[in-house]
Amino acid sequence: MRPEWEATARSLDPRNAIVRNMSHAAADAAVIRPANRVAGRLRVPGDKSISHRYAMLAALADGESTIRGYLTGADCLATLDCLRALGVSITQLPDGVIRVSGRGINGLQPAARPLDAANSGTSIRLLAGVVAAHRFRTVLSGDASLARRPMKRVITPLTLMGATIGSSDGRPPLTIDGTDLQGIRYQPEVPSAQVKSAVLLAGLQSTGETTVVEPVATRDHTERAFRAFGVEVQTGDGEIRVKGGQRLSARDLVVPGDVSSAVFWIALAGGTPGADIEIEGVGLNPSRTAVIDVARRAGVRIDVEPSQETAGEPAGRIRIRYGTPGSFAIAPSEVPGLIDEIPALAALGAMLPAGATMSVTGATELRVKESDRISCLADGFRRLGADVDEFRDGFVLTSRPLTGGTVDAAGDHRLAMAFALAATRASAPTTILGASSVSVSYPGFFEALESLIR
Ligand code: S3P
Repeated sequence: MRPEWEATARSLDPRNAIVRNMSHAAADAAVIRPANRVAGRLRVPGDKSISHRYAMLAALADGESTIRGYLTGADCLATLDCLRALGVSITQLPDGVIRVSGRGINGLQPAARPLDAANSGTSIRLLAGVVAAHRFRTVLSGDASLARRPMKRVITPLTLMGATIGSSDGRPPLTIDGTDLQGIRYQPEVPSAQVKSAVLLAGLQSTGETTVVEPVATRDHTERAFRAFGVEVQTGDGEIRVKGGQRLSARDLVVPGDVSSAVFWIALAGGTPGADIEIEGVGLNPSRTAVIDVARRAGVRIDVEPSQETAGEPAGRIRIRYGTPGSFAIAPSEVPGLIDEIPALAALGAMLPAGATMSVTGATELRVKESDRISCLADGFRRLGADVDEFRDGFVLTSRPLTGGTVDAAGDHRLAMAFALAATRASAPTTILGASSVSVSYPGFFEALESLIR
């Protein structure tokens, strides 16, 4: 017999569907209808951070790597396009399998055109570190959102290492004249895994040793991926050290599911009475799971069952059930560990019983993500019926009965998904403008939502 919680496949009759995608010409929108029941079992797409790193390291390795579970979202496809332009041969097979023929460290070739990182901060910042160590010019650019994002944070250390980098007042496009780099000891000005990774990727291809000092720990996928490809890296006491000139060996790797995508289902189940969702194969790297502790504080029932570890990245199953929802606050010290999950946690806040609050402080970085995630998020949740007080470095959201309406995701994938969740609890349908942006990190998001709600 089919377990009670298992979702059954249902046809998407656009008249009855709870989620309706209107993908035709002028209407890049999704209509979300109120839902009563949430249950099901699913997998989430591959981890975005790990996918980028495996592709880049495979490109710098000796031999052919196979990566399974690679995220086929627009961000990670942008990384593949950039690597191809740098002379790397990459074959994409069905179901997120990619084969990468490595060119060895310092082995990339000059690109004939500017590289387009599209919407992806991780692509542009990490690739800046990769190409800075190559003795040719590379231009890195992206879409309108990326063109607004700060790049001095990578320009400064890479310049100290020897590269010459032009920019548009500290923003893309970046014109990088790469050279033989010298290792450095560097403390990023903001806690940032992207900056750490850019410096470590450059350091790996430099003379001498490179040390990144990290008073506040950030996600450590680069360190784990280095080890997976056979690079020695020392970590401890808030420092990460790598010696330049080490060779990487090609590997067969599996990317676990993205916990930053799973968090949308944590919020949906945590905010819907009676909900029960199970997710298989989710990455459980401790530098990424702070969101689980915060969601538990908000009263969500979460059981975690670690099952495997591949290439140093733990993964497992999580079961999420509606519990005893209540107010919760995110402290400044927690922010670097769950910065990408704040839109989903805000959706959970909006779904709490009326009068409950969700707050975050010390999160100025939210203003320089794919959108200004403080003001765009505040604007969207207000339109759905919540109260939101916005500050320079955070906001307080007070739950009110949600009314639905029309909200603009501001081209930001995580906002589109967060608004969609809250919309399932509204009293009337909601139209989300810019809904196709979900494909940046979660292709199939609306289909997954449809499979979980009734
Ligand atoms: C990422 C690091 C984080 C995160 C981004 C992915 C990474 O950015 O917000 O989505 O893969 O290293 P910062 O390092 O700038 O905080």
